[in-house]
Amino acid sequence: MKDLISLHDLTPEEVEDLLNLGIKLKAEQKAGKEHHILKGKTLGMIFTKSSTRTRISFEVGMTQLGGYPLFLSSNDIQLGRGETIYDTAKVMERMLDGIMIRTYSHQDVLDLAKHADIPVINALTDLLHPCQVLADLMTAYEHKGKLKGLKLAYIGDGNNMAHSLMYGCAKAGLDCAVATPDDYQCDADVVANAKDDFKKYGSELILTNDPKEAIKDADVVYTDTWVSMGMEAEKEERQRVFMPYQVNGELFKLAAPDAVFMHCLPAYRGFEVTEDVIDGPQSIIFDEAENRLHAQKAVMVRLMAD
Ligand code: CP
Ligand code: NVA
Repeated sequence: MKDLISLHDLTPEEVEDLLNLGIKLKAEQKAGKEHHILKGKTLGMIFTKSSTRTRISFEVGMTQLGGYPLFLSSNDIQLGRGETIYDTAKVMERMLDGIMIRTYSHQDVLDLAKHADIPVINALTDLLHPCQVLADLMTAYEHKGKLKGLKLAYIGDGNNMAHSLMYGCAKAGLDCAVATPDDYQCDADVVANAKDDFKKYGSELILTNDPKEAIKDADVVYTDTWVSMGMEAEKEERQRVFMPYQVNGELFKLAAPDAVFMHCLPAYRGFEVTEDVIDGPQSIIFDEAENRLHAQKAVMVRLMAD
């Protein structure tokens, strides 16, 4: 494993190892045990999109591992003024030990990883958000005591979160039901890859336009914003089309009685989810946000430690 670009690239064993390491690092950090596994290493963090959780968790995580996180806003680096991905990769590999990138184009991340001989971590593209899903799987495991055999229902936009959740569920042995409006289905290539993974590893993928079908007896209920970064011009149209996909108290009742509610955040209360659900007793959104820190520390250790 040189990079973390997509959970589709990982084996089930690699996913399990990252989750176990995340849990171990979390316990150590809570116990006040220093773990400077990346002492003297520097992670370059390229952001061409906004972030709260991702920036904080990578910066804090790298610091807790004894390394140095270097924040590189695309407003400030030459990439934002048209320098090529190739030249950026070649310069960065001379001075950094790893690169984390959040950007629009998934191809840019693939190109960066191809040209840089240091690890590249995908911290969200328009297509995928693998770091979030590692944290999500870790959180579901902590609350449910297992992952294999659980049913996760994702209701909403067929976006980067839906894609990475499908990949993650297939590798971790969860059944995954995705409900999207017909015009906002998941990417066809991602679905084809995910179908292969589900078949190979033995859990079930359900794709539907019916949120009630997806959520039925689910152990984990997941939603995300209807207006992802870059989609702002479509906001009104999306809010209209997606309203029947709102995760509200009435829909949530159809999940298993002890279901947990998850959301990668940022959330928009009153749109994709109502307050009674996201702020209710079954919501685990802040455990999920915290686990970004621990899961990503595991990723950085596996990719960047000597
Ligand atoms: N969930 C997530 O990636 O949050 P940020 O956009 O705040 O980083
Ligand atoms: N789908 C959202 C996820 C944010 C973490 C977006 O891409 O904006």
